[in-house]
Amino acid sequence: MDAHSAGRPSQADALAARYGRAAIPAAGPWNDTLALLLDHKSTRAFLPTALPTGTLETLIAAAQSAPTSSNLQTWSVVTVTDPAVRAKLAAIAGGQKHIEQCPLFLVWLADVSRLGRIADAEARTLEGMPYLETFLVASIDAALAAQNAVVAAESLGLLTVYIGALRNDVEEVARLLDLPPGAVGVFGMCVGYADPAVPTEVKPRLPQAAVLHHGTYRIGDETAQRAAYDVELGAFSKRNEMQADTWTERVLARIATLRALRGRDLLKAKLRALGFPLK
Ligand SMILES: Cc1cc2nc3c(=O)[nH]c(=O)nc-3n(C[C@H](O)[C@H](O)[C@H](O)COP(=O)(O)O)c2cc1C
Repeated sequence: MDAHSAGRPSQADALAARYGRAAIPAAGPWNDTLALLLDHKSTRAFLPTALPTGTLETLIAAAQSAPTSSNLQTWSVVTVTDPAVRAKLAAIAGGQKHIEQCPLFLVWLADVSRLGRIADAEARTLEGMPYLETFLVASIDAALAAQNAVVAAESLGLLTVYIGALRNDVEEVARLLDLPPGAVGVFGMCVGYADPAVPTEVKPRLPQAAVLHHGTYRIGDETAQRAAYDVELGAFSKRNEMQADTWTERVLARIATLRALRGRDLLKAKLRALGFPLK
């Protein structure tokens, strides 16, 4: 791994940051890749500093190295540099200014349009195309590719943040990017150097017992786990955002009302309009 691994935390510190001191799992194998993965954090404060030549292509090579369902490669990605388009995307995303400020902004597409063009060229119909399964395949492909780009970026000393809020209006995103039918922006991504004036901290996750099941799914002591995690994330929020929201409060704020979906309750109809029948 590169020189940036030198600044990564030790295994003990990385696990403590990821889970909080009270829920550290047993230490297992450890290496530079794991140190990089456990040190992940998003940022929403970017320096305007341009990325070194070839960085975009390197990130895309990492993205294309991700597994892809049946090697169909049903994703594409669009870079957006035009400030006017960035501003419109930021507005769609509820005013997320980092979309305008980051040096590299990517829109990741679930893209079956290429398959459609193959069908046209080969004079074939694709019976599997209109199904929900095909949309899911493309969305999973896009996410796996994008996450490889995130890891690659972090290995280069860059940080990122995903922008799922582009799904607030997938039709407008498609119009702005001139997407063909069968392509939809599933999320955006800001990439750049984090502004050191805005410290970033690893955000703790649920204890492993909440997500890891052995053999069969067992709902264990979920209430106690959630209470402990609420304390952990509440403290994180206070340190980083000056408000002590617990995880429970955040989950409810995000999912409890239709209003919080910010237009995404209409997603099925919009996807259908964009060429994903979702049968
Ligand atoms: C698919 C996806 C969409 C996301 N959309 C947004 C977004 O629109 N705006 C934002 O600020 N963060 C967004 N995030 C970042 C998450 O809020 C963040 O990953 C989560 O809070 C965990 O924090 P961490 O990445 O620092 O560990 C998104 C993350 C994912 C995976």
